[in-house]
Amino acid sequence: MNPLNDILQSRLTEGPVPAAEVMALGLYHPEHGYYRRAEGPWGFAGKDYYTALDLGPLLGQTLALRLEAAWEDLGRPAVFTALEPGAGRGWLGRDVLNATTGAFAEALVYVHRDDNPAARRAAEEALLPFLTTKRARFVAETDSLEPFVGAVFSNELFDALPAQPWRWDGDRWTQEVLTPEGPQWQAADPGAAGAWFATHTDGLEPMDGSIWCEGLPGLVHELATPLQAGLFLAVDYGESAGRLLAKGADLRRFKAHGVDGKWHEDLGEADLTADVDFTRLATLLEGEGFGGLGQVELSRWIRTHAPLDRWGAEWQALPEPERRSRTENLLQLTLPNMMGSRFRVLEAWRG
Ligand SMILES: C[S@@+](CC[C@H](N)C(=O)[O-])C[C@H]1O[C@@H](n2cnc3c(N)ncnc32)[C@H](O)[C@@H]1O
Repeated sequence: MNPLNDILQSRLTEGPVPAAEVMALGLYHPEHGYYRRAEGPWGFAGKDYYTALDLGPLLGQTLALRLEAAWEDLGRPAVFTALEPGAGRGWLGRDVLNATTGAFAEALVYVHRDDNPAARRAAEEALLPFLTTKRARFVAETDSLEPFVGAVFSNELFDALPAQPWRWDGDRWTQEVLTPEGPQWQAADPGAAGAWFATHTDGLEPMDGSIWCEGLPGLVHELATPLQAGLFLAVDYGESAGRLLAKGADLRRFKAHGVDGKWHEDLGEADLTADVDFTRLATLLEGEGFGGLGQVELSRWIRTHAPLDRWGAEWQALPEPERRSRTENLLQLTLPNMMGSRFRVLEAWRG
């Protein structure tokens, strides 16, 4: 059994542990955390979950067009740095780099930022040709980021940040905690979270609730500060603050492609994740001086920005298995009730 369970049991002798602390321990304990293991969780058979990158290159190809448009809007700078925090295996960076050509390809430098050792190892392989030609490089999460012009983009970064579920019980706020008897909702002062929730509802009903990610402002500030001019783009799942409150957001556990609410079980051996509050993410970016904020469903973003008719015609020339896999990739990201309808894309602009 993962030693995190012993660490958690000993922590429980001191009192209830808020769910966000359990999530932080499970994902980021320096030795035993789920995202500090040598083996990555991503993929199909034998893995815990897949992301849009496992489905094919369509997300990266569309993103490459958005980045190129940003490069044009910035006046074609000689160097366009694209920083990807939470970059995992580097597959999104690889797909973007593979999709760029011409003068933009010469300007583009991709920067992978993710201290997850499994991610780093897989990214070294995926990005090898681009590392060799210095079109890609790594930075550690502790490295301070030099100012740059270009973009910050991420896929499923913000849903992996420790987050605390809160619930309105009709009279007061309660937070989800772990006790020796199991998970419970206990009354607590929500502080800044309470003020945020109050401004995003026109009346709380019992069982309304949401997620509060304490680390979000710090991370947004850290990522936004070095971007002197350019695009901030986040792909993730979540909702507006108002919809999350009405829905009552919880933590989810992903294991072997199953999903449930047992966030306190299999610590270090299962993914824990929470909906992203897109209203808060946008508000924080506005506070950092970004404008042009917009967010849409991923499926709509793809259909708006990808020249699907032209790409569809080009795929006809591909061998049958490749053509089928491109088509499946497209359907997964654009059909209702598939991945593209569960994810959102937020864009913000500075400069
Ligand atoms: C859900 S995975 C997504 C990986 C990849 N983007 C993908 O789509 O396959 C989240 C990743 O974010 C990383 N992460 C979490 N907090 C981070 C931070 N502050 N800076 C950089 N990476 C972070 C984790 O190590 C993990 O690899």
